[in-house]
Amino acid sequence: MNTESPNNKNENNGHIQMIPFTLEELQKYDGQDGMPAYVSVDGFVHDVSDSKLWGDGVHFGNIAGRELTVKYKSCHTGRPRIDQFPVIGYIVPTTARD
Ligand code: HEM
Repeated sequence: MNTESPNNKNENNGHIQMIPFTLEELQKYDGQDGMPAYVSVDGFVHDVSDSKLWGDGVHFGNIAGRELTVKYKSCHTGRPRIDQFPVIGYIVPTTARD
């Protein structure tokens, strides 16, 4: 079970530890009610909480806490933006929690 604090500073000697998320766990981080806003692109989880364009976890109808690779690639062809935001984890299959 994920044990990091909501603000996700999972540091170990200054190194940010990459956190595994199942898609179910990622859904908690929807940018609502004070929760951080995380999105998954290409299996990596980015923290977009600091983006004004992801206010309340919503961005042009897209909602944080989701796997958004296809939507990102269709909307941001030639305008990559996600790399500006920190990678804090990666997606694991639900079976990884069995
Ligand atoms: C309906 C689809 C989408 C539209 C119309 C859209 C449009 C935009 C626009 C107009 C901007 C600001 C100008 C720019 O930097 O290019 C922007 C920024 C951005 N978009 Fe999207 N976007 C869409 C989907 C997505 C998705 C699915 C993701 C991520 C999974 C994403 C991530 C970002 C990021 C990280 C930024 C930079 C935000 C910042 O600098 O604060 N976008 N988007």
